[in-house]
This record gives sequence, C-alpha cells and structure tokens, in this order.
Amino acid sequence: MEKKRIAVYPGTFDPVTSGHVCIIDRGLELFDEVIVAVAQDSNKKTLFSLEERVEIIREVFAFTDRIRVIPFAGLLVDFAMRHHANVILRGLRAVSDFDYEFQMALLNRKLQNDLQTIFLMSDLRWMFISSTNVRNIASLGGDVSSLVPASVIPHLRSAYGLPSSWPLEKASGDQDHA
Ligand code: PNS
Repeated sequence: MEKKRIAVYPGTFDPVTSGHVCIIDRGLELFDEVIVAVAQDSNKKTLFSLEERVEIIREVFAFTDRIRVIPFAGLLVDFAMRHHANVILRGLRAVSDFDYEFQMALLNRKLQNDLQTIFLMSDLRWMFISSTNVRNIASLGGDVSSLVPASVIPHLRSAYGLPSSWPLEKASGDQDHA
C-alpha cells in the first residue's frame, strides 16, 4: 500500500480566515491528509483560547475526515514527525511575508532535514487578509463576513460583545467619515 501523503499546516489561527481555508483546500489537492496544527506557543497573545481556535476550525471542516485539527505545543518539527508528516504547508501572501517565512522554513530544515516546507498562494481575493486585520475590523464593529468562514462570526460577535444584528448592521457609535 502506498504511503499516505500527509502535510501539516501550522498557525495561530486567531481566528481562521478565508485565506487559511483556501490554502487548506488547495493542500487537499496535493495531499491525502492535511493536519491543521494549532499552535499554543506562537509568542502571540491571542483573542481566542487554544481550545476555541481548535473548535472553530473543526466546525469549519466538519464535513471531511481528510482534515484533522490538532493543538500543539513545543516544536513544530517534532509535532510533524510524531504525525508522520513530511511536509509543512504555509501560505504566502505578499513579499512582506517572505522574510519571516524564509527564516522559519530554514530553521525548521536545520532542526529536521527530512521535512520539506511547501508554500502555496491563496486566491488573489484573499491576499490582503490576515487574522490581525479581521480582529481589528471586527473589534470596531466592521463587517468581516466576506473574510472569514460563516461559523467564525458568532465567535467574534461574542468575543467583542457585538449586537446580534452584527455584522449586518454596524455597531452603534460608528461615525461616517466618508
Ligand atoms: O500563524 P503564525 O502565527 O504565523 O504561525 C507561526 C507558527 C505557529 C507556525 C510558528 O510560530 C511555530 O512553528 N511555532 C512552534 C514553535 C517552533 O517550532 N518554532 C521553531 C520554528 S521558527
């Protein structure tokens, strides 16, 4: 029997965005299984707890068993080896991502030479999205419904105490500076 092609797609996913979903979908075209590895130790103070971030992504991908969503702490390369993956999958948006991604890929290779890092580009329409931008916009009551999977919306609404009408109506207190 042929060996399963397994890729690990690591990140903080605070929260998962449509850009992440696009990379995972593209990963499924290349690999038998994609493990979404949700990092505990990413040096970032997160809006959502590790458990919430995992839960949100599981909700998004509940329809398939080719995607597993697993929290991890410690080194990514150790996680990948434990799960018999030989590829780390990362999305590349713009030149601004390159330096960080380049360093990370080379460091991971230094730590584990058997692991390859593969970069995929999301659809053009998601190129400008980041979890940080999504949080910023949502925290100010802006509409992020075209930037994240639908199931992320209730989590953002409750995290920021937004009204049940959000994101269809702007939160109160907004001013039009157009
Ligand atoms: O979505 P992010 O925040 O860009 O993801 C960064 C992440 C989680 C992939 C990176 O911080 C990571 O791999 N953390 C685990 C610790 C580790 O292995 N560090 C060494 C590689 S730089």
